[in-house]
Amino acid sequence: EGFFAMTNRVTIRDVARYADVSMSTVSQILNGKASRFSNDTRQKVLYARDALGYVPDFNARNLITNSVKTIGVIVPDIGNPFFSTFIKSIELLAMEQNCISLILSSNDNQELERKHLEQLINRSIDGIIIASPSIGQAEIDNQLKKNHIPYLLIDQNPIADGDRVMTDDFNGAELAVNHLAQLGHRKIAMIMAKKPSDNLKRRFFGYKQALNSNGLEFDEKLVISTEMSKIGGMNAANKLIQTDATAVLTVNDEVAIGLYHGLNLLGKNVPDDYSVVGYDNIDLDEYLAPPLTSISQPVHELGATVFKKLIERIKNPDLPQTEIMLPVKLVKRNSTKKLS
Ligand code: RIB
Repeated sequence: EGFFAMTNRVTIRDVARYADVSMSTVSQILNGKASRFSNDTRQKVLYARDALGYVPDFNARNLITNSVKTIGVIVPDIGNPFFSTFIKSIELLAMEQNCISLILSSNDNQELERKHLEQLINRSIDGIIIASPSIGQAEIDNQLKKNHIPYLLIDQNPIADGDRVMTDDFNGAELAVNHLAQLGHRKIAMIMAKKPSDNLKRRFFGYKQALNSNGLEFDEKLVISTEMSKIGGMNAANKLIQTDATAVLTVNDEVAIGLYHGLNLLGKNVPDDYSVVGYDNIDLDEYLAPPLTSISQPVHELGATVFKKLIERIKNPDLPQTEIMLPVKLVKRNSTKKLS
């Protein structure tokens, strides 16, 4: 945009101002998506384009001719192995379907997430997959719906208004606690995320429910809140050893990796002193000492389901809203053992 302004080339912003519509509207109408708008809006934009002599830049023309679809993906943290694996599955599927994927990581920065969303819309994106918690109803109403942008909600995003593909967080925690209870553990702690998103809260509720269904008492002193990170897990070790827990469920695998390190620094052993169950079943788990028992979210199935549903929505915006819940499973390794 800056370069073209310097050369006094007519820009999409000029056309938008002249037609008194948003840049996203101009971009979509000039990129083969005019059917999303009223005839009046279409005429205004085409008249402005001709009056100003606007010529789309190569990229825009390429998008029209090749009709390559562009899918946006917004995740809270691209560095987290769960999200990076999810993104890889989306990118692979996009390439197979002659689509390109634009990946945006907000690092849990709400303002940045909103800016990302605006940028994606201004590039007349064909559809958006939203895993982040801070894109709320207002953004969905005022940015996505208003611009007729197909979207799909997953994971940490709490909004029910739109297509959703979830994994069974509640049952995931139940599977973990049932496994530890079957090994004889009576004092089972949970290391939880501070300010948890709704899906993470469902893991906590599943933990509580499973304690109850195994005849174990819920003790809030056994719930430790920490940053959902390796450092957060390491710091939680100091609190864990002050409890009478013999086993622990962590909200995700990165917290478990940090917990391993923290316990080792305190001279504690996994699983002799603490049986540990993680969550996500990331690739690293098999290479830990001892290999980590974890709850597997079907990340590749999630990617395939999400991509398929979004393409269906792009092709037919009027489809009824759907919610899909994918099952999770316990993957037993050597970080859990019978209570001695
Ligand atoms: O590891 C990141 C966690 O946050 C995953 O469990 C994923 O479900 C997301 O919510």
